[in-house]
Amino acid sequence: MSMDESEPISGFSRLSREEKIEMASKLSSDPEAFARELAGFWHRDPEVQRILEEFSENTVSNFYLPFGLAPNFLINDRLYILPMVIEESSVVAAASKSAKFWVTRGGFQTEVISTAKPGHVYFKWKVSRALLLDQEEDLERYLLEHTSHLTENMRKRGGGIKSIRILDVAPEMPGHFKLEATFETADSMGANFINTCLEEFARLLPEYFHDKGILIDEYDLEITMAILSNHTPECIVSCKVRCPEEEFSGMGAGLTATEFVEKFKDAVNIASHDPYRAVTHNKGIFNGVDALVMATGNDYRAIEAAGHAYASREGKYSSLTSVELSGGFFIFSLHLPMAIGTVGGLTGTHPLARLSMDLLGFPDALELMQITAAAGLANHFAAIRSLVTSGIQKGHMQMHLSNILNSLGASVIEKETAGRYFNDKDVSYRAVEDYLIQIRRSL
Ligand code: MEV
Repeated sequence: MSMDESEPISGFSRLSREEKIEMASKLSSDPEAFARELAGFWHRDPEVQRILEEFSENTVSNFYLPFGLAPNFLINDRLYILPMVIEESSVVAAASKSAKFWVTRGGFQTEVISTAKPGHVYFKWKVSRALLLDQEEDLERYLLEHTSHLTENMRKRGGGIKSIRILDVAPEMPGHFKLEATFETADSMGANFINTCLEEFARLLPEYFHDKGILIDEYDLEITMAILSNHTPECIVSCKVRCPEEEFSGMGAGLTATEFVEKFKDAVNIASHDPYRAVTHNKGIFNGVDALVMATGNDYRAIEAAGHAYASREGKYSSLTSVELSGGFFIFSLHLPMAIGTVGGLTGTHPLARLSMDLLGFPDALELMQITAAAGLANHFAAIRSLVTSGIQKGHMQMHLSNILNSLGASVIEKETAGRYFNDKDVSYRAVEDYLIQIRRSL
């Protein structure tokens, strides 16, 4: 296959890994280095490399991210070291700092509130609406019975289909309906199970109405699509920390304990009312949540999407956390949808996700939901604490120093010298660059 930049490529997926690299390398500034670098990131064990490649398509190498550890997480009276996969500096340090603060103050108290996940078959219905809605109960029975072979294993594990309803899609779309099914998926995230059931419902739906003599011709019912929903407001985990207000003396910026907790509460309340702040506020929660979700091989896009939809559940994007100051106590709580699993998906097949699960003591889905929420609240606590005292740049730029030094090609000795020099100074890219020029001149 030749490479003509003006022509679309066909048959790319059928090329070998080396052929794909060769073809793509022609677009790079240094084709030889491009191919060499990609190969340099292959796993030394070809079997592991094969496993990694098979997770996706057209894979030519691996993209490394740091796998960090955050110790001292006391969650429901059990101590954990959390695995965190994240590229952003300061996140693991912030999680660890929070965990250490809370470990002597009762730790994180978590609870799974609910575990139901919805999915839908969308369809157009040209017959009477009342006739359709009238069928709801019979249809539910029919679909449950005719999918029992698909749900048998899940039912044995405590899951299955919990309910089936027929609903209008929206007033703006008359004649469009959705069959909404609610699922319990035990320890799996359940995407495959849910989508398999929904696609079977979509196949069975016309059959049911024909058998009942309700549909006259095939155009009376038109299936649009069948798919799970990542909006999971009935799959919720909560996490909270609580301690006497006086524990917050000496938190920084010369604030007394009372001033600190009040300023902290104001910061959280601002995010409840101002979506501009709420998005950044919630992002700080997802720093911890995503790092755990990634480390355990779960779907961080689904978790993010669900979290942000949940944050908008009252019609306006808002904070996922709240603060209560009551009876001399500071209580900081998080509620978050968390459709994750510990069976299926990458959790058991990605070598590092498996190690994460091992480190966590092979939790079931409920326990992992709670651990993940604790990571989110820990990072978030650290962020708000910094914001209302020193600001985030001080700590962040110190952490960022090594990234800047790496990007400037600093040697080990230069890094050590710069580390000492910037210990009590503001870090910026420009300042580090100038400093390196200066010490290189003096050598
Ligand atoms: C940075 O990754 C996260 C923060 O911006 C979160 C926040 O502002 O609350 C510090």
